[in-house]
Amino acid sequence: MPESLLTGLSEQVSFFMMSFVSISDLSLQQVESIFINSDFFKTKNANPLLSDVVVANVFFEPSTRTRMSFEMAALRLGAKSILFNGKIGSSLEKEETYIDTVLNIAAMKPDMMVIRSNDELSFTDLKDQIDVPVINAGWGTKGHPTQALLDIATLRAKNRPIAREKILFIGDIKHSRVVSSHLELAKILNYEVAFCGPETFLPPNTSVKVFSSLKDGLAWATAAIFLRFQKERHQPNSGAPVATSPYQLNVETLKLVKNECVIMHPGPVNWGVEMTEDVLKDPRCLILDQVNQGVYVRMALIYLVAKRELV
Ligand code: CP
Repeated sequence: MPESLLTGLSEQVSFFMMSFVSISDLSLQQVESIFINSDFFKTKNANPLLSDVVVANVFFEPSTRTRMSFEMAALRLGAKSILFNGKIGSSLEKEETYIDTVLNIAAMKPDMMVIRSNDELSFTDLKDQIDVPVINAGWGTKGHPTQALLDIATLRAKNRPIAREKILFIGDIKHSRVVSSHLELAKILNYEVAFCGPETFLPPNTSVKVFSSLKDGLAWATAAIFLRFQKERHQPNSGAPVATSPYQLNVETLKLVKNECVIMHPGPVNWGVEMTEDVLKDPRCLILDQVNQGVYVRMALIYLVAKRELV
């Protein structure tokens, strides 16, 4: 490993947890460590820092950004990655369970497992049965912590003070595991969160500030994160609004976005539903910056987990 690379790494890597499943498991110091290391990896060639590490990417649910960026992150660190990619061609087709799938991959002794799953797989059941660290890549109701971290890393990269951010989530909030991870991260980093959407898209009994009109929400927000309409999670004929939603960002509603307000979306975007393609050309749009930042945040997490330097 190059000496210059070692000396450049943050001293704050001297602690970390075995697995990374939830933002609520992190301290402020650990969150800062992730960002410092992410910034470091953005500017330095880290290959072959982890040349003896194998990362198993285990994706039970579809993914483009998260899966590819974890693979990219592993490769940029000089690590190797192996991939389990859904049902087709795997023994899930022979009715093998999720837990058996993970136990079998863990038995091959990768250095860590990056898991995307629904709640069929329980981390509580899993953690006493394997000695391989796990990173949550979007897991049922346990949230999508790396997405929340990369969203904030994207804002940090624009030199925006995070504690002054007012982040408005617009759209299908009820089904968003990104939102649940942000609510945990907001408690650590002290940014404000509000929701904007029709009642069918809001979680019941929320204590979060709610704007029922896009105009009012955008007047409040410093960052607007639009969310995918998750049609696969809505009952047919549930009355959920789609293309003609008054919450859509388009040529007209872009005029309501303040100059200093940035526009984000975790992806994938349903163009013509939550926003139109006009948004991508807008200078306030950070959607592809988020994707880019995701590689460095995931490099930081793979590195920190591989170090096994526990608190
Ligand atoms: N943001 C996100 O999780 O996208 P993918 O589902 O494509 O990974």
